[in-house]
Amino acid sequence: MDIEIRNMRISDISKIAKYDLIMLGETLGEETIKRHIKNNNLMRYFVMETKKDKAFIGQVSLWIDEDKAQINNFYIIKDFQGKKFGKKFMNYIMSYFKSIRIKEVTLEVRNSNKVAINLYESYGFKVITTRNNYYPNGENALLMYLMIGSE
Ligand SMILES: CC(C)(COP(=O)(O)OP(=O)(O)OC[C@H]1O[C@@H](n2cnc3c(N)ncnc32)[C@H](O)[C@@H]1OP(=O)(O)O)[C@@H](O)C(=O)NCCC(=O)NCCS
Repeated sequence: MDIEIRNMRISDISKIAKYDLIMLGETLGEETIKRHIKNNNLMRYFVMETKKDKAFIGQVSLWIDEDKAQINNFYIIKDFQGKKFGKKFMNYIMSYFKSIRIKEVTLEVRNSNKVAINLYESYGFKVITTRNNYYPNGENALLMYLMIGSE
């Protein structure tokens, strides 16, 4: 299936906020996302969709500060999971980082999220610390780190 990855648009936001709740259990909220897209040069939002029907597949938000980046709110919606779209999105994100000369990348992931941990490890990310009781349900977060060029 042909896919496209593009910048998030204001017209995507209400759909994104809805899927954030379904996929992540929380959302920054429509107003905050809108403000980030319009005014915040540190945040970049990308959407993956099918090329033909423009069906929403997933999204990511990236926090960029000079040569450092953080991957936030990354997901592929349920119907499209396990079909290599996460990998395609990660390939895009990693190429994007290289194109803007990012050197260090961090992300947080739930201790129990083996699928995401496997995916990130396949790109060379390593767990560098655990943040205890990080999530509202008391679950620990793993902080993962990648130095680009060392993978
Ligand atoms: C994590 C997520 C983005 C992965 O996307 P996906 O499209 O389902 O994954 P892919 O089909 O591209 O698989 C990529 C890799 O993930 C891992 N993976 C995928 N399905 C897996 C499974 N059932 N069990 C273990 N690892 C799995 C593997 O490393 C796989 O690579 P491989 O097929 O070469 O072994 C997606 O499952 C998701 O959105 N999950 C819910 C939200 C979430 O957890 N986001 C990340 C927050 S940090």
